[in-house]
Amino acid sequence: MNKIIIGNLKMYMTYEEVIKYVEDMEGEAIICPSSLYVPFFLNHSYQVGLQDVSMYDLGSHTGDISAKQAIDMGVTYTLVGHSERRKYQHETDEMINAKIKKALDCGLRVVFCVGEEQNEDKTQKLQRQLLAGLKDIHDLSKLIVAYEPIWCIGSGQTPTNDEIETTIAFIQTIISQNFHQSVKVLYGGSVDISNIDTLNQVENVDGFLIGKASTDSKQFKEIIKKI
Ligand code: PGA
Repeated sequence: MNKIIIGNLKMYMTYEEVIKYVEDMEGEAIICPSSLYVPFFLNHSYQVGLQDVSMYDLGSHTGDISAKQAIDMGVTYTLVGHSERRKYQHETDEMINAKIKKALDCGLRVVFCVGEEQNEDKTQKLQRQLLAGLKDIHDLSKLIVAYEPIWCIGSGQTPTNDEIETTIAFIQTIISQNFHQSVKVLYGGSVDISNIDTLNQVENVDGFLIGKASTDSKQFKEIIKKI
């Protein structure tokens, strides 16, 4: 099975850096640039995703980007519920649920991010995020879950392979018990060229969501090759 590799470029890179990156980048991946730069990333070997999407239809929502607009442009994926948006934009489980519904209804594939702080009860938190985020959603065939422990994002820390494997199995159990379906589950948080060989050995991981390391096209290409 081909693993899914997603690059989350976050709010990195200036215009000049983007142009260079696009010229250099290739490979089978999904890249989520700043929305402003989306047109530069289209029509390459990789697919393009948004980092976030509006919960609303087209209309009076200053600063938002609708799933319909994204689809029209040729965007195929969107991240939803990234911990940085939960933290800095105060996105709630209810908002995340509304965004997932809107995105799926419009035909976008959704990468639904979940994860715990180091001092939180992991299983309780993940269960809450999954059940609330997916409330009243019946078809999960276009949904991927990204497990990103918050304490690992940008910190250089990662859980052990055993811990990741157990957590992914837990997520899959919650999904199958409550939705009677299965989804692909990715790992994210400080994935880079130095640890990808190790992380890639996690038995049940379906791919990776990569932040900082994906902003370096050379490193990102090497990671893709290794996976
Ligand atoms: P990181 O970010 O790879 O820079 O830790 C991952 C993410 O936030 O998606």
